[in-house]
Amino acid sequence: KRIAIFASGSGSNAQKIMEYFKYSNLAEVSLVLSNNPDAYVLQRADNFEIPSHVFDRKTFYESDEVVDILKRLEIDLVVLAGFLWLVPANLLKAFPNKIINIHPALLPKFGGKGMYGDRVHKAVLEAAEEEHGITIHFVNENFDEGEVIQQAKFKVDADDTLETIKFKGQQLEHQYFPKVIENLLKKYN
Ligand code: GRF
Repeated sequence: KRIAIFASGSGSNAQKIMEYFKYSNLAEVSLVLSNNPDAYVLQRADNFEIPSHVFDRKTFYESDEVVDILKRLEIDLVVLAGFLWLVPANLLKAFPNKIINIHPALLPKFGGKGMYGDRVHKAVLEAAEEEHGITIHFVNENFDEGEVIQQAKFKVDADDTLETIKFKGQQLEHQYFPKVIENLLKKYN
């Protein structure tokens, strides 16, 4: 099976996925894609000798270039790991139920446009939430709205800060994301 990862930034989740599947008999990461030519995830892909592809807004939203690349590589699963752009209709249509995303909160809480990175964790602390966590979900035409595949949570303690809840969430993401991907791929023929 063949995985494509989309990421806009650091790519610590992408790193875990590339590590996890490096010696897998089930699947490989075939391509890393980014809208950001400076994204550190591209360096990480290089380190694994995994090819990468950078695209701009016009190409992504007004052409089939990215879809064509994914089709040509016979990608089975598209994984968004810190990818900040909305997925266009042509891509959704080309990979029905084959695009998943990870979000650093317990959706449907703390999701939607503009809810990413530290803003999520800030909002969680401001709302004095008793628990916080992560969501892995199918992607549809709206931000953070598709069917939930997996959630994992932890209690927010009185002495937690933005940094500590962010760290706890990241640990859960790194722990769960590769396994959820593996389980999904096992279900595909
Ligand atoms: C993660 O917290 C993920 O949930 C969100 O963006 C972040 C990406 O982090 N969608 P990284 O680039 O994988 O380190």
